Amino acid sequence: MPPLVDLFSDTVTRPTAAMRRFMCEAEVGDEQQREDPTVNRLQEMVAELLGKEAAMFLPSGTMCNQVAFAVHCRPGDEILLHELAHPLLYEAGGAAALVGAIFRPLSGPRGLFTAEQVRAALRPAVHYMPRSRAVSIEQTANIVGGVCWPLAQVEAVCAAAHGAGLVCHMDGARLMNAVVSTGTPARSFAAPFDSLWMDLTKGLGAPVGAVLAGSRDFIEEAWRFKQRFGGAMRQAGIVAAAGIYALRHHVERLAEDHERARALARGLARLRGIAVDAERVETNIVIFDVRGTGLSGDEFADRTLTSHGVRFSVIGPTTVRGVTHLDIPEGGIERALEAARATIGG
Ligand SMILES: Cc1ncc(COP(=O)(O)O)c(C=O)c1O
Repeated sequence: MPPLVDLFSDTVTRPTAAMRRFMCEAEVGDEQQREDPTVNRLQEMVAELLGKEAAMFLPSGTMCNQVAFAVHCRPGDEILLHELAHPLLYEAGGAAALVGAIFRPLSGPRGLFTAEQVRAALRPAVHYMPRSRAVSIEQTANIVGGVCWPLAQVEAVCAAAHGAGLVCHMDGARLMNAVVSTGTPARSFAAPFDSLWMDLTKGLGAPVGAVLAGSRDFIEEAWRFKQRFGGAMRQAGIVAAAGIYALRHHVERLAEDHERARALARGLARLRGIAVDAERVETNIVIFDVRGTGLSGDEFADRTLTSHGVRFSVIGPTTVRGVTHLDIPEGGIERALEAARATIGG
C-alpha cells in the first residue's frame, strides 16, 4: 500500500485528473524532427519565462545537466560546484563518464558558495593543470534543505566566473520554488547564466521532463547531445502537455507547499530530541536531526512508515528529510507530526 503521507520527495507526485485530461488532448508530432507542436509550445513558454533565446525539452533534469556540461566542456575540463550538488552526488558520475569533465567541489554553509571562493579555486592557465571551464549552482540547494541562492550572491558568483572566462550553468530543479519563495522573477535569476534548466516533475507535478534553456547557439549544439544521449523523442507532446499544464496551474500553489514545510518544521522543533532550524525553512524541504531521540535516521523513518504510513527519506546516519508537494493530503502535516511524536515516544 502506498504511504498515506509521502514526504519522501516532491518527485512522488502523480499527475492530477485535470493534468491527465489535458495530456490526452495534446496535439503531437515527431519531436526528434522538431515537429511536435506541444513540445515546441512548452519550449517557447520556458524560453520566455527564463528570458532566453531558446529551450529544449528533455526526459529528465539529470540529462539537462549532462547535455549542458557536454556542450560547455571538453575532456579534462573542470566544473566548479558545491560539494553537495546533485551532479556530484547523484548522477552516477555522468560528467566523468559522458563528458570527461572533472568536478572541483566547493564547500560552504547551506549549499552556497561565494565569488571569492570561485576566484580562489580558479586554475592558472598552465598546460599541466585542468582548465577551469564552468561554474554550476543549484537553485534551490536540495540536500541542505531547499535553500534559495540570493540573487545578489548568484550575480556575484557569475560575475567572478565570467570575469575569468568561465561559463555559468544553473541546475534549476526547483527554480520555481525559489521564485515563489523570494518573489524574484525567474528571468532575473536566469539572466547571469549561459545555460539553465527547470524540472517539471518536482513541485510542479508533471510525470516526465525538464527544460534546458540558453542562447540559440547553445541549444543548437545541445540538440547534438540530446540525440547522442538518447534523449530525442517522438510523440513527446503527450508528456510535454503536462509541463504546460503545470506551468499554468501549479506554480503559484508552491506557496502552499512552503507553508506546509514551515508547519512541519515548527511542529518537529517542538518534539523532544529532534533538532531542526524551523526559522530557516525557505521552500518545501525540511531537514532534521533525530540524534537526540536515541534513534538512527533509518529507525525513525522505518517506524513512521510501518506504524503510521508516513514516509520520510534518510540522508545521513541521524539526518532525515521531509519534502512537501501537491500530493500531501489535507491534514497530512498533522498526521506526520503525530507519527513523529508517537515514534519517539514524546
Ligand atoms: C537539485 C537536483 N538536480 C537534479 C536533479 C535530477 O532531476 P531528475 O530527477 O529530473 O533527473 C534532482 C532530482 O532530484 C535534484 O534534486
